[in-house]
Amino acid sequence: MKINSAVFLQSNSDYLKCPPANRPEYVFIGRSNVGKSSLINVITGKPGLAKTSQIPGKTQLINHFLVNGEWYLVDLPGYGWAKVSKTEREKWETLIRQYLMQRENLMCVFVLIDSRLEPQAIDLQFMQWLGEKGVPFAMVFTKADKQSKTRLQTNLQQYNAVMMQQWEELPGQFLTSSVTREGSDAILDYIEELNTRFVTPDPAAANKSSGNLS
Ligand code: GTP
Ligand code: MG
Repeated sequence: MKINSAVFLQSNSDYLKCPPANRPEYVFIGRSNVGKSSLINVITGKPGLAKTSQIPGKTQLINHFLVNGEWYLVDLPGYGWAKVSKTEREKWETLIRQYLMQRENLMCVFVLIDSRLEPQAIDLQFMQWLGEKGVPFAMVFTKADKQSKTRLQTNLQQYNAVMMQQWEELPGQFLTSSVTREGSDAILDYIEELNTRFVTPDPAAANKSSGNLS
């Protein structure tokens, strides 16, 4: 897919105030500093679009971008940031979970995982939760440029061995780098294909308030 335009729309702390759920939507989520904002910038071809930082916890709101006037890209706050208080962390967690469960136009959650690390409990638990709630997701391994191809292959094999203990079938997977742009066309092609399947949600359902969330 060719990107003709990508613009920032809104930042929200209340998911009910997010833009109307009338376009297909794709979320980037993962641990703080994993590279969500960087990858959004690479995919859209706009270096300053999403704010990046070497300090974890830069993204603290639900940030909506509109791409090609046609679909939403969402940069969510990172999870697992050790330096915030428990109360603050729980607040963000509730926000994110509400958002992912209630957003009617959500086509895919891209779960970003640092390709250099061995499988982390926090990521595995988060994907497990997505599976239980029936939220569609794909795995995106980031920072591929930061290690050798051999090391990378070993890490991915190790990851998938752990995934196979929890899942009968592996989710879609992408290997990416915001430095080399590796993987960004594959993600865009995937989004393009999913866009063709989008059905506008019933407006009443799209505006429904939060129900019983757990
Ligand atoms: P939060 O908003 O804090 O949750 O972080 P984030 O997941 O949005 O990470 P961000 O994109 O801000 O990147 C964090 C740091 O990692 C920055 O210093 C980036 O330059 C660096 N980084 C991100 N992606 C890559 C990559 O593919 N390769 C390399 N070498 N560095 C990367
Ligand atoms: Mg960010």
